[in-house]
Amino acid sequence: MTANEKMFSIVAHDEHDDQHHGSINVPIYQTSLFSFDTYDQYNLARVDEQENYVYSRGNNPTVRFLEDKLAQLEQGERAKCFSSGMAAISAAIMSIVKTSDHVICTHQAYGPTREFLGNYLRKFGVETTFVDGSTLDNWKNAVRSNTRLLYLESPTSMFFQLQDIRSCTELADSIGAETILDNSWATPCFQNPLLFGVGLVVHSITKYISGHSDCLGGVVVGSKRLMDPLMSTEYMLFGGVMTPQTAGLVTRGLRTLPLRMQRHESSGLKVADYVSKQSYAVKMNHPGLANHPQYELGGSQMSGTGGLFSFESRESVDKLRAWADQMQYFRIGASWGGFESLINVNALHVMSANDPQIGTLVRLYIGAEDPDDLIRDLDQAWQSITVSPSEEELYEQNPGISQKG
Ligand SMILES: Cc1ncc(COP(=O)(O)O)c(C=O)c1O
Repeated sequence: MTANEKMFSIVAHDEHDDQHHGSINVPIYQTSLFSFDTYDQYNLARVDEQENYVYSRGNNPTVRFLEDKLAQLEQGERAKCFSSGMAAISAAIMSIVKTSDHVICTHQAYGPTREFLGNYLRKFGVETTFVDGSTLDNWKNAVRSNTRLLYLESPTSMFFQLQDIRSCTELADSIGAETILDNSWATPCFQNPLLFGVGLVVHSITKYISGHSDCLGGVVVGSKRLMDPLMSTEYMLFGGVMTPQTAGLVTRGLRTLPLRMQRHESSGLKVADYVSKQSYAVKMNHPGLANHPQYELGGSQMSGTGGLFSFESRESVDKLRAWADQMQYFRIGASWGGFESLINVNALHVMSANDPQIGTLVRLYIGAEDPDDLIRDLDQAWQSITVSPSEEELYEQNPGISQKG
């Protein structure tokens, strides 16, 4: 599987920029406001603060440049950037629901998204039903007369479960509901949910799109029909906007997104294949492995896979955390999508009500390093916690003990 070739030109090519002396990079417009010569010009610009430059909470040229690139990549009419993925997600949801509405959400969605839908929105009278999103019947069975939104995250970012995007959008259409999909894992390089009928696509830009673990951001992309009300209310009123400096950094990262995704895909598959053969991994969660239960579905709606996956293990959390402690390349940390490989070890019962015998979930993020170094790292760290020390090593650690022979 490969990133769509068109993506490379979209991110790498801009039209000649007369406005900025042919500058190859869009300048960072470090300004909060834009002034006008006359009141007539000012009033004219204020008629549409999302299209003209009046105030940077509404529109800023550096941020706008990035928004237009992201809209093109996702094949949407308009994109709006936010200060974080959660700012984008919460604004997108709020732009669709109102008091007394009902939402259906995949039960494996990103934790704070579930918290926002399942707890926070209750105080505004919005109820959410969480379903195992892998089966269309579960979505259908949860539909109520007041269902207004189907919230998808495909694949999910802990267990990597997919939803059948086309079937979900057809269901939403048939009941007059909207759909939002978190596309952070696949990125527009590997999945374009708007083409499957999704209403709004959201991303944590913090992840692959910025790609260098140096900033936070989010984006919502969709049709003008859904984006116009979002921009004039939730975007303007909540004020969680992206700064021009961040937009400059993200744009720099975006230039190499398809290149990076090819690398994350191939290295991710190589390391996942290695891990799948180790005794500590009893179940792999990677949609690009042929034994993933939704492998076929993945191939029908994605053209590639990201480098973040997990496996389930019967080894204890303590042992696998001790393993992580010994790693040189994998860093222990939250998030993913940057250049650096990461490991995260958690008790499985906290994450899901799966087979209680399987105790631990390990999530690996495969960065840009040599995948063979990463495999060696996993291996040497495992050896160091499982192979018992030789007698010579024991003697060196404690010369008081007697050596045989
Ligand atoms: C799948 C997914 N969506 C959304 C978010 C939220 O993004 P942010 O941290 O930029 O608010 C995250 C963050 O980890 C994520 O993993």
